[in-house]
Amino acid sequence: MADSMEEYIKENTDKYIEELVSWLKIPSISTLPEHAGDVRSAAIWAENKLLALGFPVVEVIEGDGHPLVFAEWTDKQDQPTLLIYGHYDVQPVDPLSEWRSSPFEPRIENGSIYARGATDDKGQLMVVFAALEAWTKYRGALPINIKILLEGEEEAGGASVEKYLYSHGRRLQADAALICDTHMNSLEQPSIISGLRGILYTEIAVHGAKTDLHSGSYGGVAPNPVHALCLLIARLKGEDGRIHIDKIYDAPVAVAEEEKDFWKENRQSLEARLLVEMGVDQLVGENELSPHERLGVRPTLEVHGIRGGFTGEGAKTVIPAEALAKVSLRLPAGMDPNQVFTVFAKAVGENLPTGYEVDVRNLHGGAGFSISPENRYVKNAADAIEKTYGRRPVFMREGGSIPIAALFDGILGIPVVLMGFGLPDDGAHGPNEKFSLAQLYNGICTVAEYLDRLRK
Ligand code: BES
Ligand code: MN
Ligand code: MN
Repeated sequence: MADSMEEYIKENTDKYIEELVSWLKIPSISTLPEHAGDVRSAAIWAENKLLALGFPVVEVIEGDGHPLVFAEWTDKQDQPTLLIYGHYDVQPVDPLSEWRSSPFEPRIENGSIYARGATDDKGQLMVVFAALEAWTKYRGALPINIKILLEGEEEAGGASVEKYLYSHGRRLQADAALICDTHMNSLEQPSIISGLRGILYTEIAVHGAKTDLHSGSYGGVAPNPVHALCLLIARLKGEDGRIHIDKIYDAPVAVAEEEKDFWKENRQSLEARLLVEMGVDQLVGENELSPHERLGVRPTLEVHGIRGGFTGEGAKTVIPAEALAKVSLRLPAGMDPNQVFTVFAKAVGENLPTGYEVDVRNLHGGAGFSISPENRYVKNAADAIEKTYGRRPVFMREGGSIPIAALFDGILGIPVVLMGFGLPDDGAHGPNEKFSLAQLYNGICTVAEYLDRLRK
């Protein structure tokens, strides 16, 4: 028998990796309808895992979209309850040709496991499952009450989990929530997330003539929606990175002094790292501001793709009748994406060249989130991290979005601890996504320690 929990975790790490591999093999891509069956299989995998851990209540909850998985083990009257959230769905894998091995045949190389979902979020959920297993098997019982809520639509901006939160708030009630779905500054410098940006995801369709036209017979007089869309986008955000939408910079953002200190001290090193990660020789946008601020709390507007006209092999002289762009905004905590949609749609209308019709659709949104580093559940997390890493974590903002965080905060009224174990070069959403096995082990030890520190 191992003589400490860390020992036990070390001895069982190969087993945890094996289990993770079997989960990663399921291509649970939530945004592609043809993978709906796989998404369900990944939910059932989680259900079985939670049953095997001994949870007395485990449910796969069916709704309009992909299922939710809920579990609870709440038999300790005098102990706090922690609600743990994660997602078992993954992003699409294209471009497949960029992968060095198949995204759903996990491969271990140089101390990392490579597969779609390795870091986002199956690997990080495996951290949680293994920490719970270490408690039940090594210590005989969980130290506190645990509720688990997993969803399969996070990567697709689905509404199921939000709906469930509104209808089952009581069932989900807890003292705090834990989300392991972010990354740390580095292996040497652990960090905790003190804020996430929100997101508003839109689609803009510009219409011109009633049909595609010969560009010789009509070029010079016809509306060209592709060109109009380009003008529109250029007017919404300039080369200096400034967004021209009413009140977009008005939300007050509270940043703790210790965060600002870290921004200053770490600026050069973050800039250098970003250049390497992106393979470019300069940053674009609001270069007068530190990248910590630009990534963590500044609004941004990005075009994800443009469709319209002829883009096939060879040449075709046509003036397209319509053009479409996918555009999203990242928003600092405190801005309501639906309210931003109203001003965004207005800005689109005002900046559209004359002679065109436009439809703007709100595809999905989620509010940003922030939490004080002084919160006691956050401090406990910092202590647990310090015990594992031998170093106090710094507080960082994450530019990505986890819509549930603001909902837990707003609907359940509980603090949300964002303690993630990814690394900046994990390549979430990209090709060759990975999760560090050192972080798998560190993460399990840290979450196990965290549960202990929450115990009264
Ligand atoms: N785990 C990520 C959030 C994240 C991104 C954490 C980057 C750390 C670094 C999450 O799965 C995600 O991808 N969120 C989406 C949200 C969306 C689809 C509503 C995002 O940020 O684009
Ligand atoms: Mn995620
Ligand atoms: Mn993601």
